Amino acid sequence: MTDKVIIFDTTLRDGEQSPGISLDALEKLEIAEQLARLGVDVLEAGFPVASQGDFEAVEAIAKQVEGPVICGLSRTQLADVDRCWDAVRHAQRGRIHVFISTSPQHMEHMLKMDEKQVLAETRAGVARARMHTDDVEFSPQDATRTPLDFMIEVLQAAVDAGANTLNIPDTVGYGIPWDFGALIQYVRREVKGDYVTSTHCHNDLGLATANSLAGIQAGARQVEVCVNGLGERAGNAALEEVVMALKIRPDQFPGVEIGIHTEELARTSRLVARLTGYPVQFNKAVVGRNAFAHESGIHQHGVLAERTTYEIIDAGSVGQTGSQIVLGKHSGRHAFSDTLAKMGLTLQGPALDAAFKRFKELADRKVQLTDADLEAIVAEEIGGHVADGFELDSLKVSGGTVGTPQATVVLVRAGDQVEATAEGDGMIDAACKAIKAATGVEGALTDFNVSSVTGGVDALGDVIVQLEAEGVRVSGRGLSTDVVEASARAFLNAVNKVVRLRDQKDRRMPEATP
Ligand code: KIV
Ligand code: ZN
Repeated sequence: MTDKVIIFDTTLRDGEQSPGISLDALEKLEIAEQLARLGVDVLEAGFPVASQGDFEAVEAIAKQVEGPVICGLSRTQLADVDRCWDAVRHAQRGRIHVFISTSPQHMEHMLKMDEKQVLAETRAGVARARMHTDDVEFSPQDATRTPLDFMIEVLQAAVDAGANTLNIPDTVGYGIPWDFGALIQYVRREVKGDYVTSTHCHNDLGLATANSLAGIQAGARQVEVCVNGLGERAGNAALEEVVMALKIRPDQFPGVEIGIHTEELARTSRLVARLTGYPVQFNKAVVGRNAFAHESGIHQHGVLAERTTYEIIDAGSVGQTGSQIVLGKHSGRHAFSDTLAKMGLTLQGPALDAAFKRFKELADRKVQLTDADLEAIVAEEIGGHVADGFELDSLKVSGGTVGTPQATVVLVRAGDQVEATAEGDGMIDAACKAIKAATGVEGALTDFNVSSVTGGVDALGDVIVQLEAEGVRVSGRGLSTDVVEASARAFLNAVNKVVRLRDQKDRRMPEATP
């Protein structure tokens, strides 16, 4: 007997709510395509009513991404539900996910509604969604702090109005595995009807993965997860952890099956890290760069003799194998696009041209480029290209232990050149100050992270920055064999996002964000 657990990925919705993440439609589309390759069953593409940008991204994903059910999130308000469906309806299979808060804390301080009103909203929102599609999910937000009787009443109302997935969100990460498992069991016993029970666990106590697994053991057959454990505050249950726990311990989940192609996990993790600007911690389970590294002599000896002595996961099974050398400076456009296609990367048209140009620049400075380098170049191109943004034409820096470091940048925007020179505490600081002077965007760098894409002295430096400016927090990334240049590119990428948000006046509506 097999028993499928539906993997519901919410990286593009809850994950995107992590502070400082602001993905544009192209970036979301690239991640969505990769999630489809990974084999997720349901892909929550966004919250269409939150902004025009969110709407367009969900719509583009629904139109283009094949495979998963495409889901949009909606409050219970009828106009929200209709707007959500407008974005999702293009999908081969579309789902509306309706939610409303049910805990006393949320009802009193946020919704200003009593239980009767919340019940009425639930019925109306779910029934409206059901008019559009027969795939409707309902979530009582902050379920783990909701009185049990009321939660059951709301869930029953949702099923009676047509919901066929009941998601139990541990919105504030309050659950403890055995207590969360018992909650799932209780829901399944008390709520009558034909529905799938789902978990949505946040990680405030570091228990999101454990709680999700407890939910599955108690009968939940959908788990809501995010790649790299992204999400509000401390994040959501990490997709890769839940998936690998189910794979590695079938004895604990007899008959349970999932449709994930685990060899795509590492690549998915890298793509999400690059495009969101949230690096993966080195010791992160499954996808961290140290997840298969052995430091002590005893461990090294054991693994060399027999891998299973100290490894429960085969690195190859999650795509964590060494990078392959794929291209060099003599490789042409055809070989470049062919290799990207084989790697499942989907750049086309002007974006492909720009990525090829960048590849040539970098290949001139680095003897050979690996698949990881190519992924980084593509990610830089997708995220770095901000329509009508500033482009780096040239950068000149001077510094060292003597004299004041100085930088001159020449930027181009819509054919116009702008040049600025600045001094700083170091060459990177000087370059960032010169970019500020040239673009007129002031702001504070709140985070700065440098890593190398692969090993070796000619490795590409991958810089990720977080910038706070004009009331928004954005990330930026840059790539180069030279760390100062990579930093300047990352800073300029972040500045361009600030300019884009300013131009679009497309900020999230805070009151609409779950
Ligand atoms: O954490 C939460 O409660 C949510 C809901 C919208 C499902 O993200
Ligand atoms: Zn959530």
